[in-house]
Amino acid sequence: MHKKVFCNWKTYLGVGETQTLAAEIVEYAGSAKGIVLLPSAEVLESVAQVIEGTSVEMGAQVSSTHRSGAYTGQVSPENLHTLGCRYVLVGHSEQRAAAPMSAAHFMQQATTALEVGLMPVICVGETREQRNAGDAAVVVREQLRGLEAIADPDEFFIAYEPVWAVGTGETATVEDVVQMCEYIKSIMGERTAILYGGSLTAENVGAFAEQPLISGFLIGGASTKVTTLFPILDVLRSA
Ligand code: PGA
Repeated sequence: MHKKVFCNWKTYLGVGETQTLAAEIVEYAGSAKGIVLLPSAEVLESVAQVIEGTSVEMGAQVSSTHRSGAYTGQVSPENLHTLGCRYVLVGHSEQRAAAPMSAAHFMQQATTALEVGLMPVICVGETREQRNAGDAAVVVREQLRGLEAIADPDEFFIAYEPVWAVGTGETATVEDVVQMCEYIKSIMGERTAILYGGSLTAENVGAFAEQPLISGFLIGGASTKVTTLFPILDVLRSA
């Protein structure tokens, strides 16, 4: 697979379902690299058992700004790494909506993740109102503030996910996404790998996959069932 595929399972799946789906994906993938599972924190260990020694990788949906310590209810990035995670989402729009946090908070989360050996996948994107007002670039600029200084472009991904496209059935146009990729690279560096996410399906993923500026995809709802995920992976395998 030329493009990386991150499967953001959110909290859609039960423990048993998660293990079954992970096993089915391992079988589908065979030796093909590029698939990353992002289960919710409480099922990471069971997924780790299923993917051990296979080509499928794992990441977490969130991690604390602190490596470890007196932080009740948080998720230790050190433990995530020990469990086999290689990636962690930073600032997914559903998290930003649940508890608004500053760019400095996400910068700290990314910094700590890097320190323990996790690759941050930094999620950015504007709301419908912000796009209609012509503010998409300004919003993304603000969400990236400070991050350009913390890491080498080889050490993180940026996921461009317009908020209005996440879980809604709407997708951004390929032109708008390419334009945003160019803008993000102008800030973060040319080598920055950018993912697109937002209501991806087997029907719409092909057009994005043709774009060299898009390095991969962050897939939510459609990644939680083999009947919707495998057709997407089939498209990407032949792209
Ligand atoms: P979606 O979610 O594919 O269900 O729109 C994407 C995401 O939240 O990363």
